[in-house]
Amino acid sequence: MADKTIAIISQKGGSGKTTLSLNLAAGLALRGPTHLVDADPQRSISQWVAMSVSNAGLPPVTQLGKDPLATIEQLEYDHRYVVIDCPPIIQGDTVVAIMRAVQIVLIPVLPSPIDLWSSVEMVGVISQARRWNPDLRASLVLNQVETRNALSRAMSEALAELDMPILKASMQRRAAYRSAAVEGVSVYGLGKRAEPAVTDMEAIIEEILCL
Ligand SMILES: Nc1ncnc2c1ncn2[C@@H]1O[C@H](COP(=O)(O)OP(=O)(O)OP(=O)(O)O)[C@@H](O)[C@H]1O
Ligand SMILES: [Mg+2]
Repeated sequence: MADKTIAIISQKGGSGKTTLSLNLAAGLALRGPTHLVDADPQRSISQWVAMSVSNAGLPPVTQLGKDPLATIEQLEYDHRYVVIDCPPIIQGDTVVAIMRAVQIVLIPVLPSPIDLWSSVEMVGVISQARRWNPDLRASLVLNQVETRNALSRAMSEALAELDMPILKASMQRRAAYRSAAVEGVSVYGLGKRAEPAVTDMEAIIEEILCL
């Protein structure tokens, strides 16, 4: 049985779901058998992995079939970690089914008060999912952080009102994340030039393994 099944969810396009899913899965794959699930009809993860060479160290990818629960349960049976990249929707049947099946939901969010406020809908959706999945844990993850916008006062206030935990670790804005996507690898496969991005990902992984 899987130790952790993690869905990356946000209704906001371009918030970093696919970037976080793929790099998170690549880091988890160094710890144990890991599988990626592409639940997005845009098929970004599948395209990313299709570009990779066979030794890129990327986990295998399955596209979510008609029965999300069955697909996830089957993968959980023989993988330690399952990571699911979701489409930019939070109300659809597929995402609702995924939230009932997973242990952890991560919500990447850009570091601006406006983007944080747009996560308010997620709070309601998560509490609905907890009616079927009472142990579901959920956390925001800041993405594209620049040192100067780490956590402005306006963001801290927005966060306090949102009542949703946020990981201490975050993804900084780094060219390595874009390069990895172009080259069909994860940041773990980019060598020295991506060391700071790998440090971001390792901190995120260590934190979520304790959730
Ligand atoms: N931390 C980062 N630093 C630099 N570029 C980033 C970072 N995170 C994401 N990007 C870039 O931002 C763009 C959007 O990211 P991504 O595709 O992961 O978002 P998404 O939430 O999956 O989008 P969609 O909603 O369309 O599925 C991509 O070009 C990606 O390379
Ligand atoms: Mg995506």
